[in-house]
Amino acid sequence: MLPIKQLAILGGSPAFREPLHVGRPNIGDRQQFMDYANQIFDNRWLTNHGPFVKQFEQELSGLLGVKHCITICNATVALEIAIRALGMQGEVIVPSFTFIATAHSLQWQGITPIFADIDPRTHNLDPRSVEKLITPRTTGIIGVHLWGRPCEIDALQQIANARNLKLLFDSAHAFGCTYQGKMIGNFGDAEVLSFHATKFFNTFEGGAIVTNDDDLAARIRLMQNFGFAGYDDVVYVGTNGKMSEISAAMGLVNLKSLDEFTDANCRNYHKYQQEINTIPGLSLIQYDESESCNFQYIVLEVDQQDTGLSRDHLLETLQAENVLARRYFWPGCHRMEPYRSYFPNASLSLPETEKVAARVLVLPTGTTLGEREIEIVCNILRIALDNADAISQRIRD
Ligand SMILES: Cc1ncc(COP(=O)(O)O)c(C=O)c1O
Repeated sequence: MLPIKQLAILGGSPAFREPLHVGRPNIGDRQQFMDYANQIFDNRWLTNHGPFVKQFEQELSGLLGVKHCITICNATVALEIAIRALGMQGEVIVPSFTFIATAHSLQWQGITPIFADIDPRTHNLDPRSVEKLITPRTTGIIGVHLWGRPCEIDALQQIANARNLKLLFDSAHAFGCTYQGKMIGNFGDAEVLSFHATKFFNTFEGGAIVTNDDDLAARIRLMQNFGFAGYDDVVYVGTNGKMSEISAAMGLVNLKSLDEFTDANCRNYHKYQQEINTIPGLSLIQYDESESCNFQYIVLEVDQQDTGLSRDHLLETLQAENVLARRYFWPGCHRMEPYRSYFPNASLSLPETEKVAARVLVLPTGTTLGEREIEIVCNILRIALDNADAISQRIRD
């Protein structure tokens, strides 16, 4: 037991001097990155599909075993482009328990996101809920592989085939993960990856659309570059979704450390699992370790009935110790604007989303965190639960 004399929320000193973050960037070989940056300056080719972007796209395609990889400036723009290139319109079914970008990328282009409920065991889109929401205006489904755990791909594909709908996956969390032994990136009509700084693999900002469909890939390439088919030849409405050379260089550097990042996450996950298994009322989501997995999220579920402490009070307790845990995807997209105003009764049809959003807490992990920090975090959790009444009283006062 590591000594914590008094919890900070009850008047003690914080356990950590420096804050522990969720999603602190992993950074590969700095010298290699500096060398690449110098090459970019020597080339005087900063963006517009330069040699670093080309190489990064090739390496990503090879790693994922997918025919086409189009790197994009971030995953939100990648979702917008993929949605448009797929011809989605009218209504598209999405989970509400996701990052707001999944819904906004539709609404931004006048398409209505229709929120389906999740399976509480997986936190992913429930295909039964999806089926019930299909109307004549539905043109597609966007599944999200939340926390990197693949959603029910086969069931969603069957619905899409039967109802002639497009199927896109928001795979922002699932880079490096597999479904039935096959890399995420090969499913649906296309998949979108995020390489944002908070993801375990980053290009500062960045993302990619991956697909095995030649025509779709060609449309996406045009749309990400203003619709230019040649020097003075614009054939579509397009946008600027290009990835810069410096981001691609960061991606190439970080690809070399991908195994190291994943191993650190995996070690941390097992350490958290070992500790949290001994704390009644708390559980960690499970990863299917027979598949490849990036273990990038440490997702705690807090059962207030068993712990006597609410998720939010536990969060305040951790924050007081400088453990900056986060309530991910709370309160759900349907409770944020503009969707809250559009669908004031949505919560009635999203009971599982509401319950999961109220009990999830994401804990810090990544290459900057080690065993000792995890032991201290878990001791804070233990002591917090032992002092549940005093903490609730202090917060109420
Ligand atoms: C599920 C999900 N979709 C989309 C995005 C948007 O990614 P980006 O920040 O690269 O635009 C994120 C997160 O950051 C996400 O978590």
